[in-house]
Amino acid sequence: MPRTAVVTGSASGIGRATRDLLAQRGEAVIGVDVHDADVVADLSGPEGRAALAEGVRRLSGGRIDSVYAVAGLAAPAPATVAVNYFGTLATLAGLRPLLAGSPSPRAVLVSSMAALLPSDAELVSLLTAEDEPAALARAEVLAKAPETTGGLIYSSTKLALSRWVRRQAASPEWAGAGIPLNAVAPGIIATPMTAAMISTDEQRQALLERVPMPLNGIAEPVVVARALAWLGGEENTHLCGQIVYVDGGSDAVIRGDAVW
Ligand SMILES: NC(=O)c1ccc[n+]([C@@H]2O[C@H](COP(=O)([O-])OP(=O)(O)OC[C@H]3O[C@@H](n4cnc5c(N)ncnc54)[C@H](O)[C@@H]3O)[C@@H](O)[C@H]2O)c1
Repeated sequence: MPRTAVVTGSASGIGRATRDLLAQRGEAVIGVDVHDADVVADLSGPEGRAALAEGVRRLSGGRIDSVYAVAGLAAPAPATVAVNYFGTLATLAGLRPLLAGSPSPRAVLVSSMAALLPSDAELVSLLTAEDEPAALARAEVLAKAPETTGGLIYSSTKLALSRWVRRQAASPEWAGAGIPLNAVAPGIIATPMTAAMISTDEQRQALLERVPMPLNGIAEPVVVARALAWLGGEENTHLCGQIVYVDGGSDAVIRGDAVW
């Protein structure tokens, strides 16, 4: 029986590449996005998060094999907190019951190498406490200076997501239920999210100074999709709580041997 996968953010970039790759490999894919998707749902709020779970339950008949939580925003705005962190957690919590009937259930989310860049400690701590109203209020304050503190919103959501994976993966809900839970942390990927940041050579060079990618430079979205597909596939039986950097080397350059 072919596997059934759910991919959020399926209308664009990495989510779209993941949807296409899994479909090419013969999987049934349920795409979720705010537009052009099998399940149209806005993951920034409770109604859309409920619509995601309900829509996937209806289309899948109540059993899925994998969840790929890819949807995200990079805007220096509170919506980035709502979608990247709380939308991702709601996706995984809402769909976890549907994984129970799979012989090889898997869950993967998309963090970022941005988790290694400066972030806002207060926002990260509110995210870790899963206090959405307070986190949105803190993001509102940070967003007042889009060019400086606003940029900390995105990295804070990704740092908190990576931390969440580390803390949850070995728990009874995930490892205890036989579900490998992992993340990928991409470097710079050529998608609509980054198009305006890498449209000139000068911009590319400036960004590559912050995010060094000595191995093959800026990547196409299918590169990340392939890593996601392996983490969410049957072959992955024992990776647990790993943040897999698909980043052309930025983690190795920035953190060196501080992490094993
Ligand atoms: N592009 C990069 O360089 C890069 C690097 C690291 C991590 N990422 C992460 O990869 C993921 C995908 O990004 P991408 O580069 O493919 O961007 P993208 O903008 O091409 O795609 C993001 C998708 O998420 C969807 N989305 C946004 N808000 C949503 C909402 N409220 N509800 C439902 N869907 C929503 C969008 O409609 C879009 O289809 C994001 O989590 C992003 O943070 C991207």
